[in-house]
Amino acid sequence: MSARLLITDIGELVTNEPSAAPERTGAPVGGPGEGPAGLELLGLIRDAALAVGDDGRVAWAGPAAEVPAELAEGAEVVSVGGSAVIPGFVDSHNHLVFDGDRSEEFAARMAGQSYSAGGIRTTVAATREADDERLEANLVRLLEQAQRSGTTTFEIKTGYGLSLDDEIRTLQIIRRHTDEATLLAAHVVPPEYAQDPEAYVDLVIEQIIPAAEGLARWIDVFCEEGAFTPEQTERILAAGAAHGMRPRLHANQLTQGEALQVAARTGCASADHATFASDDDLAALAESGTVVTLLPGVEFSTRQPYPDARRYLAAGVRLAIASDCNPGSCFTSSLPFCLAVAVRDMRFTVEQALWAATAGGAAALDRDDVGRLGIGARADFAVLDAPSYRHLAYRPGVQQIAEVYREGRLIAQNPRSVIIPTSQRPG
Ligand code: NIG
Ligand code: FE
Repeated sequence: MSARLLITDIGELVTNEPSAAPERTGAPVGGPGEGPAGLELLGLIRDAALAVGDDGRVAWAGPAAEVPAELAEGAEVVSVGGSAVIPGFVDSHNHLVFDGDRSEEFAARMAGQSYSAGGIRTTVAATREADDERLEANLVRLLEQAQRSGTTTFEIKTGYGLSLDDEIRTLQIIRRHTDEATLLAAHVVPPEYAQDPEAYVDLVIEQIIPAAEGLARWIDVFCEEGAFTPEQTERILAAGAAHGMRPRLHANQLTQGEALQVAARTGCASADHATFASDDDLAALAESGTVVTLLPGVEFSTRQPYPDARRYLAAGVRLAIASDCNPGSCFTSSLPFCLAVAVRDMRFTVEQALWAATAGGAAALDRDDVGRLGIGARADFAVLDAPSYRHLAYRPGVQQIAEVYREGRLIAQNPRSVIIPTSQRPG
């Protein structure tokens, strides 16, 4: 057995494999009852190494002093000089295929206006005007930005086409960049159907969903006042299921409606936003196993109230954190930024937030090959320009992602600012 790549001198390796750390270090970091909440989930290994096989998967992870000799032989060895290494972020909620600029709408909001679903139509008009080449170039630019912030897996939604042709062409563009493609034809009712929203729901069910079969893995609906009702939502999710798409939802973003109950009842893999949630909603989601994906950047950029992660976790709900990068409610693709906001304003611990943006995102996409760095997982990881994962929340707004690898290959790189002397590594 030999590895293609061996990353060594890792000050802290986050594996998200709770069993990895105690067995391999003999010195468990944060066993049950020790350390901050969530630490036990991170499978932290200090002074670690990570080996990547020819298949782009993790071949071995453990203390650098214990790397098996046959693994190191012939491998490209990269010393990261005491930096922390984390699994690549799994961003399970994005709207990245669009044209147009809504910075004026954002500025007006910051001056006192409130966010409403209707703004989506501004982007729909611009997106319909744009040709595929332009939409794809914009998408690639956004993906490259996100990769430089440490994201290695992306879910991407349609939802700014809202006609048969525009939904399908945007879906095809998405599929050229990710398998995690979501049909969100039910984002909002387009202007030409304003007088007859039911006719648009029929178009989605009878024409757009069948045409998206085999292209979209997921079906999503914006179930909200001003968008789609719970009854319409259930019909659309059922039609998606009949064409091989699994459900996820935009739920309770703007109001305390029934959307989270719909998500639980229909077995959604994830219910996203959940800015408003009753105790009954949380109990139903814990029972159905639906991941709740919180989107800190949205509350930040719309001045909505932040949901309290501790309350959701106490109810037994699994949480993910995603960016929701889109031109309207939140135009950041930076998960380090979202993580810092989640810690500060949603009351996640740093450890819970990091888990939610990596393993949690994977759970929201029903994936077990990403969001962790155990043997056999995809070797998707970020090397930090910092000695500890904690710096992601501790130093908000500072670029601390140094190198990003997907399947063991370097895909993005930022200038490093510090070399971390061994004596300054956190104990
Ligand atoms: O997730 N809520 C619906 N969709 C997006 C916003 C889209 C927009 O405003 O353009 C969201 O927040
Ligand atoms: Fe969204």
